[in-house]
Formats: sequence, C-alpha cells, structure tokens
Amino acid sequence: MPLATSEYVSNVWREGIFDDKVVFCTGGAGSICSAQVRAMVYLGANACIIGRNVEKTERMAKDIATARKGAKVLGLGAVDVRKPEALDAAAERCAKELGSIDFVIAGAAGNFLASIDNLSANAMKSVIDIDVLGSYNTVKATLPYLVESAAKYKTDGKTPPAKGTGGRIIFVSATLHYAGTAMQSHVSVAKAGIDALSVNIAIEQGPRGVTSNTIAPGAIGGTEGMDRLSRKEDRERSAKMIPSQRMGTVKEIADATIYLFSDAGNYVNGETIVVDGGQWHMGGID
Ligand code: HXC
Repeated sequence: MPLATSEYVSNVWREGIFDDKVVFCTGGAGSICSAQVRAMVYLGANACIIGRNVEKTERMAKDIATARKGAKVLGLGAVDVRKPEALDAAAERCAKELGSIDFVIAGAAGNFLASIDNLSANAMKSVIDIDVLGSYNTVKATLPYLVESAAKYKTDGKTPPAKGTGGRIIFVSATLHYAGTAMQSHVSVAKAGIDALSVNIAIEQGPRGVTSNTIAPGAIGGTEGMDRLSRKEDRERSAKMIPSQRMGTVKEIADATIYLFSDAGNYVNGETIVVDGGQWHMGGID
C-alpha cells in the first residue's frame, strides 16, 4: 500500500520545488533511500533508482511513482555498484529517458554484524567495495551530467543563483565511526572512506558548481538495516538513551535530503548533516 504523504515528506516544503529535475539514486529500493527519493518525487522530481534485486527495485519504482500524478520513476535492477560499466549504462539510460541527472544519492551499502575475528578478508573487501568503490563508481558515472546540470545555475560568481539547483551529490554515511562500534569495523572503515570522498569532491568540483554533502543517519526505526542488525528489545532500550529519546524516521532523513538539494542548501558544500537525535555526542553507538 502506498505510504501516506505525511510519512515521507514534511509540510514545511512546497510542492513543485523539484519540477523538471531528475534524481539518480543507488540503493534506491532500500528503506532510507526510497524515502529520500519518494519525497523528491512528491515535490516534483522524476527519478531513477538502482538496485541489485530486479523484482524489488522495479516494485519500489512503481510504488514511488504513486507519490505524484505524472511522475516518472525508472527502476533499474541487476545493477551492482561494484561494476562501473553497469553504472555507466544506468546513468546513460536515466539521462536519455528522463532528460538529465540533476541530483545523485549514493546510498547503496552492505552491512552485517561481525567481529573482526569472524570477518574474512573477502567480507571486509565486499563492504568496502560496495560502499566506497560503489560510491566512487556512482560519482564517476554521473559527474558529466551533474556538471551539465550545475552549469545551468552557475552565476557570475558574485551572486547566488536566483532560483533552482542542480549538480548536487548526497552520500549516505553513518555515525558508527565517530567513536567506534563493536561488530562494525568493516562498515565503519567504509563509511569513513565515503566521508573523505565527499569532502574531496566538494572542494575539487565546487568551482564547477557541483556540491557534495553527506547525511549520517543515526538509529532510524523501521528500516531493513535496523531490523537486521539489532534485536527489538535492544532497540527499545537504546532508543531511550538517545537525547531525543526515540529512534529517527525515514522522513527525517528525507527532510535533510530536501534541504540539501533545495535552494535553501545552496551554500552548503563538503558538510555532513548528522540526523541522529544527538546520539553520537553521547559516545559510541550501543
Ligand atoms: C560474516 C559475512 C556475513 C555475516 C556475508 N559475509 N554476511 N561474514 N558475517 N553476517 C561474508 C561472506 O561470507 C563472504 O565472505 C563475503 O561477506 C561476501 O558475501 P557474499 O554474500 O558472497 O557477497 P555479496 O553478494 O557481495 O554480499 C555482500 C553483503 C551484502 C555485504 C553481505 O549482500 C549485504 O550487505 N547485503 C545487505 C544490504 C543491506 O542491508 N544494506 C542496508 C545497510 S543498512 P567469504 O570469506 O565467505 O567469501 C546500513 C546502516 C548502517 O548500512 C548504520 C547502522 C546503525
């Protein structure tokens, strides 16, 4: 059943702010990324979501398309972000069928709980490959389109653009590596790599009008990741320790996404927006 609008988009945003824009998202069939895309689509964008599982990705694309009458959402399954040629083809198809790529969400991630003694070299490599190399491959495949999009909004350098944005990247990271997290060394290493990648792209591509930022979600309720990585009773106990005293929602990650991609985020580049109810300031993640 399609989600009620209030479950994925705040009423502080204005419909139509992303009209004629296209968002390309890896990991787009997952709980967090699908919410980010759904909110963008509701606010006017068309979208292309990328996943490994064909059935899941196509089904999610159809579901997201119900967010707005007339929305176009491509669901490209069987695309492994570890394969640059597969991403190149997906980006080309997105631009051809939807007209451009204005925004990129690099959200594909691998995760499981494993202590270092149970983590094989291949397991470590798999997560780094999916998260870090996959994010790099995503940027490489989409950068020419992002540069083209950014050029439409570039000004003389003295004034900010009057209206409209394009050429923006958001990486989906985590807070696991800020203080260290047991059973998550592979993911922590990978997310630290993503954070570094984002900052470097920000300073290097900023002069071309491209921005690169990172969203670091904390404990987000009702997600596949959270369900798979923790037990219900532990989640309830941990949630009470968060300064906000609850887990976050996918809508709250979508809100940060809209901010960064909207005119309101014009001058934000190379930043990480932590959306975790203040949890990481408490130390490690339980
Ligand atoms: C130890 C494991 C393992 C586990 C897999 N491996 N699961 N090792 N414990 N639970 C090992 C395998 O044994 C293998 O090593 C290696 O990892 C690769 O596994 P494969 O299944 O062969 O490879 P692949 O198909 O590439 O899958 C990689 C994967 C991926 C990382 C396991 O399928 C995956 O993570 N899927 C889940 C995606 C997901 O949930 N994403 C949302 C993330 S949420 P050997 O040595 O045996 O060959 C998130 C939130 C973070 O990231 C924040 C949380 C608070």
